[in-house]
Amino acid sequence: MKYDLIDKNLFIENRKRFVKNLLPESVAVLNSNDEMPRNGDGNFPFRQSSDLFYLSGIDQEQSVLVMAPDCPVPEYREVLFLRKTSELIAVWEGHKYTKEEARNASGIQSVYWLEDVQTIMTTILNHSKNIYLNLNENDRFSSDVPYRELRYSNELKSKYPNHNYQRSGPVIADLRAIKSPVEIALMQSAADITDSAFRRILGFISPGVFEYEIEAEITHEFLRSRATGHAYTPIIASGASANILHYTTNNNECRDGELILLDFGAEYANYAADMTRTVPVNGKFTKRQREVYEAVLRVMRAATKMLVAGNTIPKYHEEVGKIMEQELIGLGLLKAEEVKRQNEKSPLYKKYFMHGTSHFLGLDVHDIGDKYKPMQAGMVFTCEPGIYIPEEGFGIRIENDILITKNGPDDLMKNIPVEPDEIEELMARQRELSIQ
Ligand code: GLY
Ligand code: MN
Ligand code: MN
Repeated sequence: MKYDLIDKNLFIENRKRFVKNLLPESVAVLNSNDEMPRNGDGNFPFRQSSDLFYLSGIDQEQSVLVMAPDCPVPEYREVLFLRKTSELIAVWEGHKYTKEEARNASGIQSVYWLEDVQTIMTTILNHSKNIYLNLNENDRFSSDVPYRELRYSNELKSKYPNHNYQRSGPVIADLRAIKSPVEIALMQSAADITDSAFRRILGFISPGVFEYEIEAEITHEFLRSRATGHAYTPIIASGASANILHYTTNNNECRDGELILLDFGAEYANYAADMTRTVPVNGKFTKRQREVYEAVLRVMRAATKMLVAGNTIPKYHEEVGKIMEQELIGLGLLKAEEVKRQNEKSPLYKKYFMHGTSHFLGLDVHDIGDKYKPMQAGMVFTCEPGIYIPEEGFGIRIENDILITKNGPDDLMKNIPVEPDEIEELMARQRELSIQ
């Protein structure tokens, strides 16, 4: 792996907490993600299932994790099945886990090759009443493409119709939402790598540079810092493109006088950072750009303070909406009178700020978690207000990653420049250095 080996106690603890939630006489099975075909004989780069990784630390395709804490055969209570490596695989694909390495990464002692899965699973299933299956239960997931866990669920249900089927999804969602200190350290590494990339590009952005050149600089900094890569497709949006929320073509030339919105985050050891900064292409905000920027920054500061234990995402979004409303009135974009008369179900601020302020962050950028349950210490949320004004040719978003602690919010990106003066100074200084 590109990243340092993670302390296996993280995964041992995660499994302990997971199995505590199972009904008696249960088995839970988790599968690796598919290796997604691209074209011809090519695949997209493999990305492990976040759930399987969370419970095992195993970062390899075709792996299966089985937990059956009440199984009468003690060595089958926690089992890993792995792809058996061979000289041929070693020559063509490189190193795969040995059994000893898999034990060392996961803390699971019973490691078998996949060729044994049928025999061993028959025993485990015959001595279980409940089978926990792990479908994708992310609220935003919407895809018709059948995936490994879905195919596996259908197969098992047809072979074993008399078992009682349960969902792992809600159990894992609650566990994954609360980050342990080891996970927070990994997320901090992802945030720090993102910081380096941001500082790297501050001296590089200038009129005439193309968005994809900036993307290339970010990718360079990520890879040399041992990031697994981007946590999501980066948005490098100059000028009016910033108003396209999911702009990822990144193919325009940056022009003098424009702003550029940069939404990118490193993935380190499968943990995500998610950051947005908006900076002036020529290094200096205009009066109007700065005015709007400072409004967005005030909203971010106020919203961050509300990311505290006990609050809920829906209530929080409503409160942030009210703060944004006042800022938009101050900027002359909304009229106080119209806001007073607005339909509360479709508030006027949504014309300029049409997305949510926060989402869970962790192994996935839009991480799993129940947003209707109260926030708790250990949860990490983004905080990402924005104001998008197509008629003025720019959009501004600022996004940091916030850990909820017992003592209040802790900004994992507090060291990443965000004040407009600091951004202008850094851009000027780095340009001087590159000219010298
Ligand atoms: N980068 C994706 C998001 O901000 O939600
Ligand atoms: Mn985000
Ligand atoms: Mn983002």
